[in-house]
Amino acid sequence: MGHQRVHKPRTAETRTRSLLLHGSLWPLLILFIGCSTRTSVVAQLFSVDSSGLGISLMQSVAMALNASSLALANNTAWPLQHEPPDDRSEIEQYDYIVVGAGSAGAIVASRLSELCQVKVLLLEEGQLPPLESEIFSLTAALHHDERYMYLEEAVPNPQCCQAMASTHGCVWWHGRMMGGGGAINGNIYIPGSRDSFRRWNSTGWDWMQVQKSYSRLQQRLNPSYLQPNRLNLKLANLIYAGSAELGVPRMKQPLIAGATFGYTHHVPVTVNQGRRASSGRVYLANDQVNRRGNLKVIRGAQVQKVLLNANGTQATGVIYTVNGMEHTAITSGEVVLSAGTLNSAKLLLLSGIGPRKELQRWNITTYQDLPVGRNLQDHGMMPLFLLFGSNCAVNSTRDPTEDPYAPVSVAQYLLDNQKGPLASGFYMMGYINSSAPSSSRGEPDLHVVAHTLLPKGSTGSFGYLGFRPELVQAQQDILQEADLLQVMGSLLRPHSQGRVRLSSKNSTDQVKIENHYGEALQDQQTLLRYVRYIQKLSNTRSFRRCGLRLWLPPLDECDVLAPDSDDYWLCYIRYFYVGAWHSVGTCRMAPRKEGNSGEDGGVVDERLRVHGVKGLRVVDASIMPELPAGNTNGPAMMIGEKGAQMILDDREANNEVVQEC
Ligand SMILES: Cc1cc2nc3c(=O)[nH]c(=O)nc-3n(C[C@H](O)[C@H](O)[C@H](O)COP(=O)(O)OP(=O)(O)OC[C@H]3O[C@@H](n4cnc5c(N)ncnc54)[C@H](O)[C@@H]3O)c2cc1C
Ligand SMILES: *[C@@H]1O[C@H](CO)[C@@H](O)[C@H](O)[C@H]1NC(C)=O
Ligand SMILES: *[C@@H]1O[C@H](CO)[C@@H](O)[C@H](O)[C@H]1NC(C)=O
Ligand SMILES: *[C@@H]1O[C@H](CO)[C@@H](O)[C@H](O)[C@H]1NC(C)=O
Ligand SMILES: *[C@@H]1O[C@H](CO)[C@@H](O)[C@H](O)[C@H]1NC(C)=O
Ligand SMILES: *[C@@H]1O[C@H](CO)[C@@H](O)[C@H](O)[C@H]1NC(C)=O
Ligand SMILES: *[C@@H]1O[C@H](CO)[C@@H](O)[C@H](O)[C@H]1NC(C)=O
Ligand SMILES: *[C@@H]1O[C@H](CO)[C@@H](O)[C@H](O)[C@H]1NC(C)=O
Ligand SMILES: *[C@@H]1O[C@H](CO)[C@@H](O)[C@H](O)[C@H]1NC(C)=O
Repeated sequence: MGHQRVHKPRTAETRTRSLLLHGSLWPLLILFIGCSTRTSVVAQLFSVDSSGLGISLMQSVAMALNASSLALANNTAWPLQHEPPDDRSEIEQYDYIVVGAGSAGAIVASRLSELCQVKVLLLEEGQLPPLESEIFSLTAALHHDERYMYLEEAVPNPQCCQAMASTHGCVWWHGRMMGGGGAINGNIYIPGSRDSFRRWNSTGWDWMQVQKSYSRLQQRLNPSYLQPNRLNLKLANLIYAGSAELGVPRMKQPLIAGATFGYTHHVPVTVNQGRRASSGRVYLANDQVNRRGNLKVIRGAQVQKVLLNANGTQATGVIYTVNGMEHTAITSGEVVLSAGTLNSAKLLLLSGIGPRKELQRWNITTYQDLPVGRNLQDHGMMPLFLLFGSNCAVNSTRDPTEDPYAPVSVAQYLLDNQKGPLASGFYMMGYINSSAPSSSRGEPDLHVVAHTLLPKGSTGSFGYLGFRPELVQAQQDILQEADLLQVMGSLLRPHSQGRVRLSSKNSTDQVKIENHYGEALQDQQTLLRYVRYIQKLSNTRSFRRCGLRLWLPPLDECDVLAPDSDDYWLCYIRYFYVGAWHSVGTCRMAPRKEGNSGEDGGVVDERLRVHGVKGLRVVDASIMPELPAGNTNGPAMMIGEKGAQMILDDREANNEVVQEC
């Protein structure tokens, strides 16, 4: 999770919505600049008396706006599209074939192609990121757009996500473009903690050992910190004050160093000079990389399956389609699956690598009986709402100069090095042991990830989250009366697990996601403690000064239960504990276990090689044996760096050329 919708008062929202939803801001800017330079403004200027200075100053602004908009929309830095052979019987051969240019895959392809002797093919189903991807305050406009995302939904389960509209399935969104999830996500960059990696229990992957990959990654990404506006700074101080009363301190170490106790609003982000720094952009869209003749990138290429030799012990290539035409690429080296937690699992299953029973159901020959698709994990998140009851300086009275969509903000962004409200934002998070909030011993189990002010009169967050119309309406109604503070709670170590299966043999079909958020008793207990913690917070002196009290959305099924009873809250959990877009684990890194489809065994070994198959690795979030203590993009990119390094090291061990060019 990690994306904050910008909650605008209604008027501004309607003003900008059509603009955002109908594609990009870009054509509008051109129009604006076009008009101002070509016709109206300049033409009118020339008809007034001017010594020349006035006109030329005003023209220079129009030109500066134009130049800076063009630079922002400049997509020429990406590698050129490689066209697959016209003659489909012509088969291209590569040293490495990387499937998916997401957070991890973009890094793998870039690092491998540093060796100019090796030919790398990168296949990505999506296209280039649109303009909204670049700018922090605009990205949420892409979040329901099928062109840039897979909007997958789990099989409905009465135990969870009941607040979701229509079928009540939990959502499992993923990015679909160059940069993958990293190009549409909330930009939060957190490496996880020492304990998270210790629990992975994999040789070579403890905290000390992953630091090498993290430091390489951070040198390139150069993460930064968002500038909060004045209102959000006040909010941060309110939360620091309230939590301090409960003995939860401000975080002492920086998050980026792996700290996980207490609160902080210094949250590192993948933003560099006011623009998104996805691994896709940083590792692929620069002149050094895009001129490499040995890296071929095909966008709009959907990989269908991995080709294996006759007895399924060696990967030999992939089948992919572009515009419905099927092509084959073969490799003398390796196929690297970086298609993300849902699709890397799907591709293995379609290729005959997975639980024998499941593959038999689809008449797919089982080459390797491995627990592919099991161990699906997500932190999940549950919103709680606090209603402001009195004026305490933290309220949504907005400073008009902080409106990110105001023309002056857009102009500031374009003219002043991508600064201003369009690039500013606010995250605040707390790591808490829900059993003993003031105790810093041991690992926290609760991540209080977001503290968002929903201003009076705004449309709120329920529509964005995909909740039922009557809930959307109820939230809008309460927002007519006062401001809301939305707090999201995530489980750092959820026990409930889901599973990914095939829904058909057709690779264009989405997988079937079995979802079990909050079904494990331990998870329910932690979520209950989260509720009690927030209630205690609302009873602190600091919070009482703002008159903050819980607002409960109307839920017929729960409202008949004793108010504030555990039963009521368990019911609330079934409605509101929903997906956090942090899926991991379906191709778990662990030793192979025989029998019973090796349910708790691994799919890949500690060098990310698929058990039993030579020349096939999985390098993305799906290999995580367990969720890290924090958002997943940082660890996914680290896996990309480390996976690429392993492939290069193995090359060297085989005495193959490893010289950079
Ligand atoms: C809305 C949202 C907000 C988020 N916010 C944050 C955040 O703030 N901080 C954070 O740390 N994490 C966040 N995440 C999670 C994070 O972005 C992901 O964990 C991370 O991107 C996963 O990286 P990956 O390399 O495993 O897969 P991805 O980045 O998903 O990459 C997979 C790529 O493979 C491509 N692909 C898939 N199937 C095929 C195929 N068959 N053929 C060819 N190409 C294919 C996809 O198009 C995609 O580009 C968020 C996620 C979402 C959806
Ligand atoms: C913006 O600049 C580009 C490149 O210099 C130029 O081709 C274009 O005509 C300019 N657009 C406007 C509207 O002035
Ligand atoms: C666009 O990017 C290319 C490659 O990085 C660069 O050469 C060019 O100058 C850029 N164009 C603009 C308008 O910024
Ligand atoms: C850790 O891994 C080792 C080696 O694979 C294994 O023997 C051991 O049982 C594992 N420990 C745990 C706690 O999983
Ligand atoms: C599988 O086939 C390859 C040749 O394609 C052969 O070298 C190898 O020994 C075979 N492996 C098994 C386990 O049968
Ligand atoms: C699998 O094959 C059997 C026997 O040929 C056939 O009856 C069945 O319909 C097939 N199932 C699927 C899912 O294709
Ligand atoms: C919000 O706080 C400001 C600053 O204290 C105050 O001037 C304003 O009246 C408040 N607005 C509301 C709606 O309470
Ligand atoms: C959280 O605090 C409780 C109570 O002090 C303690 O028993 C527990 O071990 C702590 N949890 C962790 C994971 O350290
Ligand atoms: C797979 O599904 C797609 C989209 O529904 C369809 O166009 C295609 O023909 C199907 N392929 C097969 C082999 O059935």
